[in-house]
Amino acid sequence: MNFQKKIALIGCTGSIGRQVLDVVRAHRDAFSLSALVCGGRRERLLPLAEEFSPRICVAADSYRGTMDALFEGCDVAFIAAGGFAGLAYTLAAIRAGKTVLLANKESLVAGGEIVMGEAEKRGVEIVPVDSEHSAIFQALHFDRRAKFSRLVLTASGGPFLRKTKEEMALVTPKEALAHPTWKMGKKVTVDSATLLNKGYEVIEAKWLYGADFSQIDAVVHPESIVHSLVYFEDGAALAQLGYPDMRVPIQLALTYPERLPCAPRLDLEKIGELHFLRLPAEKFPCYTLARQAGEVGNIFPCALNAAAEEAVEAFLAGRITLPQIAETIEGVLAKTRKGEVTFAGLLDADRRARTLAQDMLYGK
Ligand SMILES: NC(=O)c1ccc[n+]([C@@H]2O[C@H](COP(=O)([O-])OP(=O)(O)OC[C@H]3O[C@@H](n4cnc5c(N)ncnc54)[C@H](OP(=O)(O)O)[C@@H]3O)[C@@H](O)[C@H]2O)c1
Repeated sequence: MNFQKKIALIGCTGSIGRQVLDVVRAHRDAFSLSALVCGGRRERLLPLAEEFSPRICVAADSYRGTMDALFEGCDVAFIAAGGFAGLAYTLAAIRAGKTVLLANKESLVAGGEIVMGEAEKRGVEIVPVDSEHSAIFQALHFDRRAKFSRLVLTASGGPFLRKTKEEMALVTPKEALAHPTWKMGKKVTVDSATLLNKGYEVIEAKWLYGADFSQIDAVVHPESIVHSLVYFEDGAALAQLGYPDMRVPIQLALTYPERLPCAPRLDLEKIGELHFLRLPAEKFPCYTLARQAGEVGNIFPCALNAAAEEAVEAFLAGRITLPQIAETIEGVLAKTRKGEVTFAGLLDADRRARTLAQDMLYGK
C-alpha cells in the first residue's frame, strides 16, 4: 500500500483501541500513530508510548491541553473511546477537518444530528467502524449516500436469547459479560445482552446512511457470520460475511477502498449452517426504547444513553437486575423534556438524565 497514514487514536487502551494497535503492528509500513489517548488507566499508556512514539500521549483525566492539539498532524481520527465522552472528540476532530473513523457509537446515538450536520458543513467524511455498519458500507461500495431500499442489521441475540423474561431477572453480571460470539468492552457487552446495542445500531444506521427508521430492521443471526444486509429496489440483497473479528472493519476503515491481509478466510463448509430468526423485541425492551427515542429525536436519545450508562454501571456493581436497566431508561425518558440540540444542550441533557437515573438507582 502506497501511503503512511498517521492516526490519532482516542481510547487506545480499550477493546477496540487495542485492536487498532494490532492492525498498526501488522502494517507498520502503512500506519503510524500521532496521538494516543486513554481515559484514566495511564499505566497501560506508558508501554504504548515507548512502542509507538506518538507526538502526544495523554490520559484524559489529567490532560489540561486543548482537544484540537490531539488532532494536530494526524491524517485520520480514530474515535474508540467508550460512552458519551466520545462525542466531544468526534466533534473536535470534525472541527479540525480530519476524517473520522468512528467506533464510538454514542457519538451518533446522542449527537447524530450535530455530528452529521458539522461533518456535512465542513466536508469531513465519517467512516463506520462498527461491524454492521461496515458491512453496509461495503455493500454500498463505500458510498454512504448510495441508494438502497432497506437495511437489515444482524444481531447475535447475545447470551440470553433463549431465556424467558423471568429467567432474565436472575442473570448475573458474569453471565451478561459472557458474549457468545464477540469479545468487547464491558458496557457494549451488557448492551448486547439487553439488545440496547442493536437499538443503538439502528440509530447509527439512520445517521450514517440517511435512512428512515421504517427502512431499518434487525434480525437475529446467532453465528455472527453475516454482518448485515442491504436490500435494493429490484429485490436483490447484498451482505458481507466473515468471522466475528473487529480487526477487519477496523483495518478496512483505514484502507478502503483497498484491502490488506488481516483475518483467516471464511470456511463455509466448516460453518455448515447459518440461522436467521425474528428478533423477539417483547423480551428485550431496551431495543424498542432505543428505537423509539431515536424516532422522537431531539435530546431523547442522549438522555436514553446517559440513563443506560448509569444503569449498566449499577447492574455490573450488582445493585440492580438486568430488566431494571430498561426500567431505569424508561423512567428517565418519562421525565425528560425537549431541549436544545447543540453540544451544550446535549451536555446538559446528559447531566440531567444521569441525575434522574441516579435518583432512581440509589434512591436519593
Ligand atoms: N469492542 C467492540 O468490539 C466494539 C464493536 C463496535 C463498537 N464498539 C464501540 O466502540 C467504543 C469503545 O468500545 P470498547 O469495547 O473498546 O470499550 P472499552 O474496552 O471499555 O474501552 C474504552 C476506551 O475508552 C477510553 N476512555 C474512557 N473515557 C475516556 C475519555 N474521557 N477520554 C478518552 N478515552 C476514554 C478507555 O480508557 P481507559 O482504559 O483509560 O479507561 C478505553 O481506552 C464504544 O462506543 C463501543 O460501543 C465496540
